[in-house]
Amino acid sequence: MKQELEAIRLKAEQDLNAAESQQALEALRVQYLGKKGEVTAILKKMGGLSPEERPVIGQLANEVRAFIEGELVKRASELKQAELEKRLQAEKIDVTMPGKRHELGTQHPLSAVLEEIKEIFIGMGFDIVEGPEVEYDYYNFEALNIPKDHPARDTQDTFYINDNIVLRTQTSPVQVRVMEKQKPPIRVISPGRVYRSDALDATHSPLFHQIEGLVVDKGISFADLKGTLETFIKRLYGEDSVVRFRPHHFPFTEPSAEVDVQCFNCHGEGCRLCKGEGWIEILGCGMVHPKVLSNCGIDPEVYSGFALGMGLERVVMRRYAIDDIRMFYENDVRFLKQF
Ligand code: DAH
Repeated sequence: MKQELEAIRLKAEQDLNAAESQQALEALRVQYLGKKGEVTAILKKMGGLSPEERPVIGQLANEVRAFIEGELVKRASELKQAELEKRLQAEKIDVTMPGKRHELGTQHPLSAVLEEIKEIFIGMGFDIVEGPEVEYDYYNFEALNIPKDHPARDTQDTFYINDNIVLRTQTSPVQVRVMEKQKPPIRVISPGRVYRSDALDATHSPLFHQIEGLVVDKGISFADLKGTLETFIKRLYGEDSVVRFRPHHFPFTEPSAEVDVQCFNCHGEGCRLCKGEGWIEILGCGMVHPKVLSNCGIDPEVYSGFALGMGLERVVMRRYAIDDIRMFYENDVRFLKQF
């Protein structure tokens, strides 16, 4: 039995050193120390030994078992180390290699200019508010003094969800929502998407963006409107911009005006950019109609206000001399990279 145990110890040592994986080690553990293992088999046979032999063999068997257990642990950690080294070798990185360049996009021109416009108005004490793009006919038209038979509805034909709900054709309904909720003083701008059922061409898109402005307080006059807009336009287009107010009509303002900036390309001479006009129209505005104020529960005898609305695409097109609105939505990087 003694020789048997010595032989087992020798063979186990060789086997363990030859094992190349954790699974192989586990198989060896079962083979030697498991319930039906070789060392266990010896221990089982010890019952047939003489009382003198028993402790000697018992001690040896325990030694062999402890030896194998120790070797198992040693070999396992060797294998682990080898595996780690192999991985480190395989994953070795050459820090002198040129890196992978992250292609950073640029801000879309519409977003960039909108940010600028927001900053200008925030600087004048305005808050930014938002309204829903799916809007009640009441807010989009009715409350803004555009009843069902009003001709303004023809130029703002839109997409109907049903008789009462439309995709908003303008950001003006946000005026009504703000005035219903908030009592004066009110000083807000509201940018967002608007929709019209226009066919897509160089100057029309069924989806575009507007920025609405609204100021309501005691004693607001047309002079406030002019001052605010001149300040805004000079910040946006440069201090030397020349601004012109032209009488116009909007159902929800009275009096109303359209605002032109002198063409910054030809300084009023007339060129391709301004289509020979010398002026570029950029927004509509006016004093909030008393009917609109009272529709929103604000007493027109006490309060007055002004409103303005501009098309973001137009402002950006004029600013960068972009001649086709479709460029904004096509995501052609050759176009987007230029900003
Ligand atoms: N909502 C108008 C449009 O889409 C633009 C506009 C004009 C807005 C005058 C206003 C305003 O707030 O006062 O054509």
